[in-house]
Amino acid sequence: MRIQPSILSADFANLGAEFASISSADGIHVDVMDGHFVPNMTFGLPLVKRMQEISPLPLDVHLMIENPDFWAPKYAALGVFSVTVHFEACRDLASLIPKIRAEGSRVGVAIKPGTPLISLLPYLEDLDQVLVMSVEPGFGGQSFIPQSLDKISELKSLLVARDLTTWIQVDGGISAENIAQVAAAGADTFVAGTSVFRASDRNEMISRLRTLAVEGVH
Ligand code: DX5
Ligand code: ZN
Repeated sequence: MRIQPSILSADFANLGAEFASISSADGIHVDVMDGHFVPNMTFGLPLVKRMQEISPLPLDVHLMIENPDFWAPKYAALGVFSVTVHFEACRDLASLIPKIRAEGSRVGVAIKPGTPLISLLPYLEDLDQVLVMSVEPGFGGQSFIPQSLDKISELKSLLVARDLTTWIQVDGGISAENIAQVAAAGADTFVAGTSVFRASDRNEMISRLRTLAVEGVH
């Protein structure tokens, strides 16, 4: 069970200290938004490059941008741990997957709440992780969409049937209140923005979330 705090909820003027405050996490989720694919904008390649230089933890880059076919390999080339592109934004996903992997990072594909799992079937064997969005991408602090649970368990069955160990990542509205249920549905990798960064003790919240997730599958 992996917990990846989303720095969307962090203080962007103090990233070094913010990274240090979540030292017990399994990785740091980095939300890149371009104001086109989603109605919000964050930062791009130069800042992620700097984050990669200072981060003590692996960076998990979530690209909520148009033209990931062009940009995703450039993010992977920074040496980040994983790069996730949105299915809805890709022109030629089959060609893009090996290009990202060739730069040395894990490859993920994300689907928005309205995108059916069936879209990913042709690519499942080639992915390291699938990101099931449990809110509409664009903003932190939204509520978990309960229908995501069915999608997660359906994905889990598809992976098990194919003998795949692809990570199931969930992003949006994850908290101590729902993480056990989300883990029980089959997720193993959890992005948490608000719930971690608003906690008075962030590392304590990270271990609490991890414990609850582990308990959820038992
Ligand atoms: C939303 C982003 C998320 C966001 C999650 O589009 O992809 O990573 O930061 O934030 P919370 O955990 O607050 O829903
Ligand atoms: Zn995200």
